Amino acid sequence: MSELTVTGLTVRFAGLTALDDVAFTVAPGSVHAVIGPNGAGKSTCFNVLSGVYKATEGSVRFDGTELTALRPDKIAALGVARTFQNIALSRNLTVESNLMLGRHRLTKAGFVAAGLRLPHACREDARHRARVREIARFVGVEEYLAAPVAGLSYGVQKRLELARALALEPRLLLLDEPVAGMNGAERVRMAEVIRRARADLGVSILLVEHDMGMVMRLADQVTVLNFGKRIASGPPDEVQRDPAVIRAYLGGAHTETGARTGTETGAPPGSQAGTEEEKA
Ligand SMILES: Nc1ncnc2c1ncn2[C@@H]1O[C@H](COP(=O)(O)OP(=O)(O)OP(=O)(O)O)[C@@H](O)[C@H]1O
Ligand SMILES: [Mg+2]
Repeated sequence: MSELTVTGLTVRFAGLTALDDVAFTVAPGSVHAVIGPNGAGKSTCFNVLSGVYKATEGSVRFDGTELTALRPDKIAALGVARTFQNIALSRNLTVESNLMLGRHRLTKAGFVAAGLRLPHACREDARHRARVREIARFVGVEEYLAAPVAGLSYGVQKRLELARALALEPRLLLLDEPVAGMNGAERVRMAEVIRRARADLGVSILLVEHDMGMVMRLADQVTVLNFGKRIASGPPDEVQRDPAVIRAYLGGAHTETGARTGTETGAPPGSQAGTEEEKA
């Protein structure tokens, strides 16, 4: 059972507690959203789950394996794939090459065998290419397979990032703001791909997203963070009505993005808390 269980997760940077004793569980085959105002600790949480940041305290178990001591590549090898808040693709490579890189851990033929174009390596390569085409079709980027990433529209690049994560054949997908900066039509399209990833591929999904409409439509369970602490959790409609959640968002709290550090910088326009929020 590929369940993800986070308990007592605490992350401290010099003088700042980005996550404070956070706990939640992602049930197999479910969509679990992590929401909260800017700086709440959502990306930090993702960075710990994917091995980019080390937890100060606490445990992250996936399918019975403790992840907190593992390097990012080991975590990926267990079937945990992620996308980033800001696009992280190889811009000068083609769509196909980016997706083939995503399959790296699944490639058995060694570097030398592939380089010498030995028959078994060629057969394996053809198999991977065929699967890459399927995945590209699944997210709707098949027509761009031969195109370099740099020239593609933002919406296509975001879907490609998701495709690259899927190329790993993951059991758990970590999506950090998959529709940030997208227009309405692109958002609808992305939401549909995410829904099908769960329904058709059976992947569990942990979703960080500011677009409340999308969270309400896609998520089975929601965990709300504010200043690193979990302030609410439950089904989306319940969480949406929770007074502590409403207060956290209305407070507008802490949007001093200038103070942010690390690789994940300010959220793109349109992704700010409340943009698409149903202020009921
Ligand atoms: N590498 C780091 N070093 C120091 N502080 C960090 C680092 N990464 C994040 N932080 C701080 O931890 C806090 C949580 O940041 P995080 O990026 O996790 O927030 P977030 O919920 O993803 O916000 P947003 O919605 O704006 O993406 C912030 O105060 C941030 O400045
Ligand atoms: Mg973030």
